[in-house]
Amino acid sequence: MSIPLVDLAAQHAEIAEEVSAGLAALFEASDFIGGKAVEEFERDYCETLGVPHCIGVANGTDALELALRAADVGPGDEVIVPANTFVATVGAVRRAGAKPVLADVDDECLLLDPDPVLAAITPRTKAIVPVHLYGQVAPIEELSASAAATGIAIIEDAAQAQGATRHGRPAGSFGVAAGTSFYPGKNLGAYGDAGAVLTVDANLARRVRLMRDHGSERKYDHEIVGWNSRLDTLQAIVLQAKLRRLARWNAARQVAAARYDSLLAETPQVRVPVTMPGNVHVWHLYVVRVPERDRVLAALQAAGIGASIHYPTPIHLTGAYRSLGYGPGSFPVAEAAAEEILSLPLYPHITAVQQERVVAELKEALR
Ligand SMILES: Cc1ncc(COP(=O)(O)O)c(C=O)c1O
Repeated sequence: MSIPLVDLAAQHAEIAEEVSAGLAALFEASDFIGGKAVEEFERDYCETLGVPHCIGVANGTDALELALRAADVGPGDEVIVPANTFVATVGAVRRAGAKPVLADVDDECLLLDPDPVLAAITPRTKAIVPVHLYGQVAPIEELSASAAATGIAIIEDAAQAQGATRHGRPAGSFGVAAGTSFYPGKNLGAYGDAGAVLTVDANLARRVRLMRDHGSERKYDHEIVGWNSRLDTLQAIVLQAKLRRLARWNAARQVAAARYDSLLAETPQVRVPVTMPGNVHVWHLYVVRVPERDRVLAALQAAGIGASIHYPTPIHLTGAYRSLGYGPGSFPVAEAAAEEILSLPLYPHITAVQQERVVAELKEALR
């Protein structure tokens, strides 16, 4: 019995009929760009997750870039990002024309650490991008306090946190804007690329709407220079069906995470993930820390367990960002974590039997 990291086929089985009916109606109407499906998804996303504005775009990387640009981040600006994140967070900053400035994460939750952020602020700092990594909100109060004192914008990377809250407030509602991703494996995933900008600011929302569609809200009325980063209509239909189940699927992830916690309670070599007090974690990933991680990962994979690493190389040690000028030792927490982190299979439909097998194989590998 092999166990995948995520089981998208199980999700599809639940929504197949709804998606087929939605697609059939769309094919009939031939309403392929924008249209009712996109508008309805954007509206329902706001209602379901409690975010005032949602603007669907082509993918999560574009969402972050558009959010940064709409917040007037550009050449000459510095943007503080965590050293441990998916590379797209940093790529979006670069594409907006600004300079990424890295800061270390905290050892407990691997989220952007407010102290090094404070130390990294300069007169050029225009924004901080906290990443709600693995499914929980970053320490937003401290980061916002540092930012507010100096007029710095918070742009959240909420790609891994659909449905997560901090003290009851949803991911994507803390900063001036947020980018989120509907990459298929995300908690709310499409059947291809898709993403959205979320914001509390109506003016910023309008700017993003213009930018995503050639600078126009009405056909052939181009107010600004924009480009094409529209949310695909077919994806909006899939996302609608999954949005209706998001709360239930996130709850199932929480049950599965708690089950791993208890199955691993007597295994001191394994550091289980920690939820920051005040957070509702939605467990995009269940990331443990183990000694001899590469050997353990290879043993799990050989046993048919789809474990993985998020992410194997801290940003400053990737080929793409070596030119930022940081070397080994610059971000000790992110670097140490990269040697130990291991993502275990976790998805809404995972069974207790599957999780028991994952843990049995993990314990065997650690012997
Ligand atoms: C933290 C984070 N930021 C940004 C992205 C970029 O999203 P996309 O792949 O949709 O461009 C992803 C997901 O891939 C992500 O996990």
